[in-house]
Amino acid sequence: MFYLGLEVEMSIYIRGTGSFQPGIKLTNKDLEKMVDTNDQWIVERTGIKSRNISDGITTVEMALEAGKRCIKDAGIDPEEVDLIIVSSVSTEMITPTCSSFIQHKLGCKNAIAFDINAACTGFVYGVANARAMLKTMNMRYAIIIGVDTLSKITDYDDRSTCVLFGDGAGAVLIEYSNEESSDNFHAYLRSDGSLARYLTGVNRLNESPFVDRKNSVDKEYLDEEMEELIKNSKYLYMDGREVFKFATKKIIEAIKTVSDMSNTSLDEVKYIVPHQANSRIIEYSARKLGLPMDRFFVNIDTMGNTSSASIPMALDDMNKQGLMSDGDKLILTGFGGGMTWGAVFVEWSKHK
Ligand code: ACO
Repeated sequence: MFYLGLEVEMSIYIRGTGSFQPGIKLTNKDLEKMVDTNDQWIVERTGIKSRNISDGITTVEMALEAGKRCIKDAGIDPEEVDLIIVSSVSTEMITPTCSSFIQHKLGCKNAIAFDINAACTGFVYGVANARAMLKTMNMRYAIIIGVDTLSKITDYDDRSTCVLFGDGAGAVLIEYSNEESSDNFHAYLRSDGSLARYLTGVNRLNESPFVDRKNSVDKEYLDEEMEELIKNSKYLYMDGREVFKFATKKIIEAIKTVSDMSNTSLDEVKYIVPHQANSRIIEYSARKLGLPMDRFFVNIDTMGNTSSASIPMALDDMNKQGLMSDGDKLILTGFGGGMTWGAVFVEWSKHK
């Protein structure tokens, strides 16, 4: 178990945000024409009314746009950025990475750049990684981008998943400031690979003269039915009920743990910003934690579940709405494929 943050004597602040939502707005009414579903079911079971889908814009291009807006919002020179981490499950290329494109196109010529994949928890993992690197490598600014084009791997004949997902990108710029010592960052990250089967997506592999790629899916975790399903599918597979049970348990655990680690009661936290997967998961967690829903930021109604992008897009939305003031404390929490989950406690301070 990693308690990144126990010995912290430094400050990490969120300095800027940016986001991008692609061009095609897909409403529940549109989905009614595609699969056997209806607006009422989707709204009641998920909280989603519409989501935006890529009109051809790539994952990299969406990430770039969010990154540009974030740097502009932070008001820094791109050459001052030391680190770029991109989290995604849907980049176009394995190499070069999405972050390499971003580094080049944003003109961040002094930045280290790499991608990570922890599915929908990826942004939270990215922030924790960035903070650890800023600290150990004595750097100042990091951009963490969450981006996903889930429409590329969503089966629009499968009503149990296609109503959930949207596309988008969000970016956050954090600053490590060694002028202060206010111990204002904590991270709690967890993984449990034994639950991997609940949420899967297969990377399509080229034919090989040496092995039958069709049989190259790792069988260890899969029963026969799942194996067949995954082998023949180009799409995301999700056991919705199991993910729902997992998510409600794990985000409560993650929120309580970072709150304890930071010696900050949940009453002192301005907003909890959860991965936007299903409003019922958020409502259930709020009830169990004894918190009113207005302490959770929710924008799933117009975003859908955008995987890695959902938390940074939510932060940008909050920033644009002027909901945050300097010194406000936030808990960002996510869960997703792997299975992975976690939370970070972080402070907002744009104008320092
Ligand atoms: N429209 C209408 N009916 C539907 C639809 C749909 N789109 N999808 C399923 N149903 C039906 C089912 O067939 C079932 O019918 P039955 O009772 O006749 O068998 C009924 O609705 C209930 O199905 P459930 O699967 O039990 O529905 P549930 O209330 O669990 O909601 C959902 C399904 C929304 C997927 C929910 O399980 C969920 O949100 N799970 C978590 C998903 C999640 O968080 N994923 C993200 C994690 S990782 C990531 O972000 C990539």
